[in-house]
Amino acid sequence: MPDTTPPKHIAIIMDGNGRWATQRGLPRSAGHKKGVNALKDVVKFCAKEKIEVLTVFAFSSENWKRPKQEVEVLMDLFLSALKSEVDELHVNNVTLKFIGDRNGFPSKLTDMIRNTELQTENNSGLKLFVAANYGGRWDIVQACRHLADDVLNGKLSVSEIDESRISDQLSLSECSEPDLFIRTGGEQRISNFLLWQCAYSELYFCEDLWPDFSPAHLQKALQWYAGRQRRFGLTTQQIESH
Ligand code: IPE
Ligand code: IPE
Ligand code: MG
Repeated sequence: MPDTTPPKHIAIIMDGNGRWATQRGLPRSAGHKKGVNALKDVVKFCAKEKIEVLTVFAFSSENWKRPKQEVEVLMDLFLSALKSEVDELHVNNVTLKFIGDRNGFPSKLTDMIRNTELQTENNSGLKLFVAANYGGRWDIVQACRHLADDVLNGKLSVSEIDESRISDQLSLSECSEPDLFIRTGGEQRISNFLLWQCAYSELYFCEDLWPDFSPAHLQKALQWYAGRQRRFGLTTQQIESH
């Protein structure tokens, strides 16, 4: 019997913007712009459906290696999307937070991120995490550094380091781990997204390019998720006798 509890936390790799644009003879930037619209619709849908947490991968630590012009377009787009969307997010009771290494962003963007986070921090609806300059390996490294510091300062002994202490130092420590992981764009890889946090997520891959992804596509993923049985290492019999 599958577990029919809807996911509390959905994580999405929004992939395929460039290909969407190229297929139409447009510059890649057009795909990124259209991708922002797709995200707006998905956020509204999640807020309405009472999903607790949505984490989206917007820019990986590896994406700096893209052509300078594309990186600039993306930075400008983050800034303009934040400016134009913050009020609506606030009205929809969404809390917006960024995860990732903020060093390296233009200072205007860092300021805007901070303002948006402050404006929405007391909202009680959907928690939206945007992963930008994020890498799963970066996340684990920064957690290790915190713990090593605590050991050096005598706040923690080595034998006290366990999974929960590592989790506590990672991004997203304040919420439950992703139940459903979605990647659009046809690739079946994690590309350094939430490596630790997705240990037991259900993985859903679809061919749709991100700018084409709509709430109807998300509903399809939710239906697929409703058919999964999450066993966390137990047997089916153990799960069903509970
Ligand atoms: C995802 O779309 C957005 C970012 C990585 C910023 P891509 O830009 O990777 O699109 P494709 O995969 O090249 O089509
Ligand atoms: C992952 O997509 C990062 C984001 C969607 C932001 P990429 O397009 O960068 O991943 P690879 O390079 O295909 O693995
Ligand atoms: Mg891609």
